Amino acid sequence: MAWTQIGDESDVPVNSMYLYTVMGEGITVYHLAGDWYATADRCTHQDCSLPEGDVEENEIVCACHGGAFDIRTGVATRMPCIEPLETYPIRVVEGRIEIDFT
Ligand code: FES
Repeated sequence: MAWTQIGDESDVPVNSMYLYTVMGEGITVYHLAGDWYATADRCTHQDCSLPEGDVEENEIVCACHGGAFDIRTGVATRMPCIEPLETYPIRVVEGRIEIDFT
């Protein structure tokens, strides 16, 4: 794995999400009940920005048409979303948020 630091743990309080731009790509980082997840930031339905939506349990609900994805797996869980969302391995080391893009 090739870990890349994208931010600091303090950027993302528990039960929140944060949008980073890494090499021109939007990456949404979620800090849910002490667990960390990272997904692409754009909905696979019609490209809306997912950080403008809401987190419900383990889902990100898109603000545009109410579709949703499982944050942990990227699987589409509500219509009109069908295509999965890209997810990335993530870890926090000594306060640094790191993602593997390989
Ligand atoms: S753009 Fe996200 S549900 Fe349509």
